[in-house]
Amino acid sequence: MHTERVNIMSKHYEVPSTFAKKAYINEALYQKWYQQSIDEPETFWGERAKEFISWHTPFEAVKSGSFEKADMRWFIGGKLNASFNCLDRHLKDNGKKVAIIWEGDDPNETRKITYKELHELVSRFANGLKNYGIQKGDRVCIYLPMIPEVAIAMLACARIGAIHSVVFGGFSSDSLKTRILDSDCKMVITADEGIRAGKKIALKENTDAALKGCPNVKKVIVVKRTGNPIHWEKNRDIWYHEVIEGGDPQCEPEMIDSDDPLFILYTSGSTGRPKGVLHTTGGYLVYVAMTHKYIFDYHEEDIYWCTADVGWITGHSYIIYGPLANAATTVMFEGVPHYPSFSRYWEIVDKHKVNIFYTAPTAIRALRREGDLFVSKTSRKSLKLLGTVGEPINPEVWEWYYQVVGEGRCPIVDTWWQTETGGILISPLPGATALKPGSATLPFFGIEPEIVDETGKPIKTNTSGKLVIKKPWPGFMKTIYGDHQRFIDTYFKEVKGVYLTGDGAHRDEEGDYWISGRNDDVIKVSGHRLGTEEIESSLLEHPAVSEAAVVAIPHEIKGEAIYAYVSTKAEIEPSENLKQELKRQVRNSIGPIATPEEIQWTEALPKTRSGKIMRRLLRKVARNEIEDLGDVSTLSNPFVIEELIRERKKNQDIP
Ligand code: WTA
Repeated sequence: MHTERVNIMSKHYEVPSTFAKKAYINEALYQKWYQQSIDEPETFWGERAKEFISWHTPFEAVKSGSFEKADMRWFIGGKLNASFNCLDRHLKDNGKKVAIIWEGDDPNETRKITYKELHELVSRFANGLKNYGIQKGDRVCIYLPMIPEVAIAMLACARIGAIHSVVFGGFSSDSLKTRILDSDCKMVITADEGIRAGKKIALKENTDAALKGCPNVKKVIVVKRTGNPIHWEKNRDIWYHEVIEGGDPQCEPEMIDSDDPLFILYTSGSTGRPKGVLHTTGGYLVYVAMTHKYIFDYHEEDIYWCTADVGWITGHSYIIYGPLANAATTVMFEGVPHYPSFSRYWEIVDKHKVNIFYTAPTAIRALRREGDLFVSKTSRKSLKLLGTVGEPINPEVWEWYYQVVGEGRCPIVDTWWQTETGGILISPLPGATALKPGSATLPFFGIEPEIVDETGKPIKTNTSGKLVIKKPWPGFMKTIYGDHQRFIDTYFKEVKGVYLTGDGAHRDEEGDYWISGRNDDVIKVSGHRLGTEEIESSLLEHPAVSEAAVVAIPHEIKGEAIYAYVSTKAEIEPSENLKQELKRQVRNSIGPIATPEEIQWTEALPKTRSGKIMRRLLRKVARNEIEDLGDVSTLSNPFVIEELIRERKKNQDIP
């Protein structure tokens, strides 16, 4: 595990001087604030909380609790409302300012919604939710495409103190069902269909299928997006536009405790079903507003665009809550980077004069492969800052993003964080940090990362190990919904007293962090987070399958792809048809993002004498690293190795 890194003097880009002058934070200020945030966290966060957020009742204490006890709380005694902070307080000075620029899948469709309009829509919808029986603390599932109604629905829940659980529109009806059941949602908000790259996504149909197993969902609110015919349950389904028309435009925001939940968002871990990461209100809002301002060096006049889907944490924190808390103009895009052409992102940048652009390495890799012309034929002169998130970005891709997209004038913020962390933890600050292609560089204020070995001891510079965070910060999750013990076991058990991130990393001699990716059984496919066990369970549901194991293989565009080993039941003959059927099985039970890239048949899985699958060996074979398979002396069935290698050779089209 602890491979020593060769000490390469990595390439640096100094902060552009024009940028450094205008940025909020320069190097000296970063050092000063960082020191203060570590030495006096209460003073530091107490001041920021007052600066970034409007409190209805001031908090009495800044924080309590610890990682040891897994009982952190922030801004204790304070009362606030997230929708008030994202809307009402901006009306006086920014009522006419555009809050959301919506760009449709079809380039001819655009909508602009001002803060005043958004406030009214949210208030009407919030009253609608109340009319249909939703109260403070109730869970509401949102299964919508990237349309402004997703923001309206989230903020309307926040307005009345209901807890939203947004489910990514690419998930199947089964995935939707398990998420609805796990947090016992009372209502689902969906659309007739979604549209991506001209193709329709049957959201209402998926919802109908999911709800067959969810007796507690009494109402479904449906946004009319395409207008195509859909099945309608008379006593259950309600049109969104009718709720809006019928809703009173006055809705007093419910002032809730800082520590009350804002949302649940499901994410995958090493084992078991996806877990409902629960974020509370005060700490989360302070943290996302502050990171949004300083990491993107967001100024009042900027047009800001994050390309993530609202179904993921990046969408929650950096399309909705962070930007809107700062009264920013946030762009929301319904479509995909390659439709109608590979210039689409840059055309949108030009059309809306985007200044800050935040996307995922997988998109950059896909666009880079198509050549520079799709980029160079657009202007992009409005751009001043670029960002990435979701997976490591390799230096060549970083360079392309920097030189070709940003024409060497826009700093890149490579932001490292997770669903659990709520906001960005490690990233350059554009006016303060020298950039190193491939490194997320330095911790944000209040964040104390450490690299530890197997036993939890800090390890040397330039040696890779496990990335942990030593002290709590305001954006961190509160618990796993309905399973606090799992929260403790997942994050605080293996290494005591710190937060275990699940990522591998090393720190160089200048203190910069290089994140290598997950070191557990989580796979990042095109930046989407999936657990191997979920995919294995899905394969096992098929009647022909007796055993399955899933590992990640590197993929040029997706970053990682899914490689599955499957043994069939004795009487079943493996076939190409069956492979296709199994791929379909996973698509249908989880969603297209979880489809295995390749399936390899195997008589048996390699197991240790204690019955554990030797994943390390499966990973090596899948990656074609068969020269050095490591120590296999504990295998109870060493004969499988030969078969694994033989079968792997048949999949030669996979590199
Ligand atoms: C990975 C996404 C390298 C990491 C916000 C983490 C990254 C997981 C980076 C969380 C980055 C995210 N460099 N790896 N800049 N950003 N990751 O929960 O493995 O969907 O643990 O949150 O993404 O994924 P999640």
